[in-house]
Amino acid sequence: MEKRGNSLSGAGFAKVFTMTTMAGILEFQDVSKRYRVFPRRRVLALDHFTLRVEPGEIFGFLGPNGAGKTTAIHLAMGFMRPTGGQGQMLGHPFGYAPARRKVGFLAENVALYHRRAAGLVQFYGALNGMEGHTLSRRAREVLEMVGLAEVAGRNVSHFSRGMLQRVGLAQALVNDPELLILDEPTSALDPLARVTVRELLLRARQQGKTVFLSSHLLSEVELVCDRVAVLNKGKLVRLGKTAELLQAGEQVEIVARGAGAFAQAEALEPGGCIRVPASQQRATIERIWAAGGEVISVNPVRRSLEDIFLEVTEGSGTRRGPA
Ligand SMILES: Nc1ncnc2c1ncn2[C@@H]1O[C@H](COP(=O)(O)OP(=O)(O)O)[C@@H](O)[C@H]1O
Ligand SMILES: [Mg+2]
Repeated sequence: MEKRGNSLSGAGFAKVFTMTTMAGILEFQDVSKRYRVFPRRRVLALDHFTLRVEPGEIFGFLGPNGAGKTTAIHLAMGFMRPTGGQGQMLGHPFGYAPARRKVGFLAENVALYHRRAAGLVQFYGALNGMEGHTLSRRAREVLEMVGLAEVAGRNVSHFSRGMLQRVGLAQALVNDPELLILDEPTSALDPLARVTVRELLLRARQQGKTVFLSSHLLSEVELVCDRVAVLNKGKLVRLGKTAELLQAGEQVEIVARGAGAFAQAEALEPGGCIRVPASQQRATIERIWAAGGEVISVNPVRRSLEDIFLEVTEGSGTRRGPA
């Protein structure tokens, strides 16, 4: 029989390498999830969802409550199986346990045992195969990173929701993960703590890590994410670079006075302003003039992701529900 070497050389290495990169660091391929709800209802929480997250990016996963974000994340983590489709995390099919050791996960509703904060973080580190001094040093380090160094020895049962969320973050970071999956990480945090989280994410990206961040708080995502996907009613409704999505919605703000009929038709207050897509700027100004009005100023407005998000989610009344 032909003897084979153990090392991957040449074509063998290239093949494995390509397989991993092709699979993406986190990838959903036509994934659907249907929940059965008592007595005979079914909810299609995820509807043929396809998405590929690239290594090294901070990816924002947006959508209103009930859009299916947590469902998608739980499928990726292997907590349940999809009804249809498939996906990979770090080059392995969803649910492959060893891949999870390289993932840091923060659940939406942090449920923690009643232990001291440091003990809890160490507990999760141990689950990931860490031990001894390395583990205790690392636990102290991550608690410091999330601003909990001073309460590391206190039992978390007395912690506020914001503090618990920070323990959750420390727990997600303890194993120095390649991929961070955070489900609404800032929902219970005060503005200062949000800044801390933002800095943590940017530092993670600097270290070459990938971050997948779900949120309904668009202002958070806007500031740190390289790309965003908008999910609504289980379907992907928007995907793109954050900057491009923002530019796509370019508008102008026109302030006018004395525009009579025009002002009335547009419910424009005297001396008030109106926002229109940049493409309608000229036509709008002409209508103001035609109505005897005077244009006082015209300014470009960068719409927030929030506006685009509202427009996208209101405009896509896609089906879901009993199926
Ligand atoms: N365990 C479950 N059983 C039945 N329906 C569920 C379950 N979990 C979520 N859902 C439903 O699936 C849809 C998506 O929920 P979820 O993934 O939690 O959305 P999001 O995280 O975007 O708020 C919602 O309609 C929700 O009510
Ligand atoms: Mg959720």
